[in-house]
Amino acid sequence: MCTLKVKLPQKEYSIIIEREILGSIGRKIKKIYRNKKIAIITDSNVEELYGKSIMNSLNEEGFETKIIVIEPGEESKSLDTASNIYKELLDFEITRGDMIIAFGGGVVGDLAGFVASTLLRGIPFIQIPSTLLAQIDSSVGGKVAVNLPEGKNLIGSFYHPEVVFIDPELLKTLDKRFLYDGMAEVIKYGCIRDKRLFDKLMKFKDEEELFSNMEEIIQSCCAIKRDIVERDEKDTGERMLLNFGHTIGHAIEKHFGYKKYTHGEAVAIGMYNITKKSEEIGITDKGTVKHIEEIITKYSLPYIMPETNRDEIIKAIGIDKKNKGDSLNIVLLHRIGESFIKKINRKDVDKYII
Ligand SMILES: NC(=O)c1ccc[n+]([C@@H]2O[C@H](COP(=O)([O-])OP(=O)(O)OC[C@H]3O[C@@H](n4cnc5c(N)ncnc54)[C@H](O)[C@@H]3O)[C@@H](O)[C@H]2O)c1
Repeated sequence: MCTLKVKLPQKEYSIIIEREILGSIGRKIKKIYRNKKIAIITDSNVEELYGKSIMNSLNEEGFETKIIVIEPGEESKSLDTASNIYKELLDFEITRGDMIIAFGGGVVGDLAGFVASTLLRGIPFIQIPSTLLAQIDSSVGGKVAVNLPEGKNLIGSFYHPEVVFIDPELLKTLDKRFLYDGMAEVIKYGCIRDKRLFDKLMKFKDEEELFSNMEEIIQSCCAIKRDIVERDEKDTGERMLLNFGHTIGHAIEKHFGYKKYTHGEAVAIGMYNITKKSEEIGITDKGTVKHIEEIITKYSLPYIMPETNRDEIIKAIGIDKKNKGDSLNIVLLHRIGESFIKKINRKDVDKYII
């Protein structure tokens, strides 16, 4: 078991990482929440696997609960679904003194967090992330959002949970593609900040060894993200380091309509290709891209740029909402574990990116 504290100017909260925490979640929540009403927002896959155990644990402590189940998948991260959830929460007569639990992957976390941040101008919420991506990334840092037809995460805010409960055991039921999807972000943390983590990931013999070290891996990743978020909550500086591999990654995801590649797969391709370029022009130490290729392959992720029209990818990079004006910020490595942000001119895209 491990607890990390997140200290922001307006709020402090804990990230608690503990195996089999779900069985005692009611007791743990009782310690931090005095009212009775709790609304749990989850998706149907997670509900089928863990709905009973979370409800039993909450009901044993006498909470008055309501579970709201959405369809799994990115399409649910919409204003339509949010609107249905608002209605269900109002039927439950939720107030600003009550609690919402976001129980699921990044889709549920972002959507339920967005609902919690907006309904009645803000209802406290708890994150119980259930995918690797959600446990090491989306549940930490306070970004909540829904998508619009025009693009992903276009409506959202920064809204932090009261507490994050992370149970690595939940990952055992995760589809392998989603597990490796999350591993791309774990690899990213190793690349930008933690060579020790990177080397460890390289050494694991098999999935069993990976799982037996999962608590420590999650802790390392959350600690890196926590440290960065504490220094740059609103994503105007250092937090951009977390976008290593994402400039190309987002463009690939978008170009293929978010269907062909998972986010992690696209980021893996991005991390490899941007480092290949920066190594070629002497910014990154020689041999770095070889290590990235090895680790990406080890975790069943792709690294080769898909055959596609280069101009289309450049166009997709150009309209990334994080890029303003004639320049754009990219994240490069000096070497594994050491990253930096470089502002480049748009006309240098072919030199640095693709
Ligand atoms: N807020 C942030 O900072 C941030 C950061 C990164 C990503 N995101 C967002 O996260 C979303 C992606 O999240 P995701 O990859 O977790 O996808 P997801 O929430 O769609 O979950 C992936 C799949 O796994 C299933 N699942 C969840 N937990 C499970 C479990 N324990 N066992 C079996 N199946 C389980 C889900 O039902 C779903 O089918 C995107 O919308 C992305 O924009 C947000």
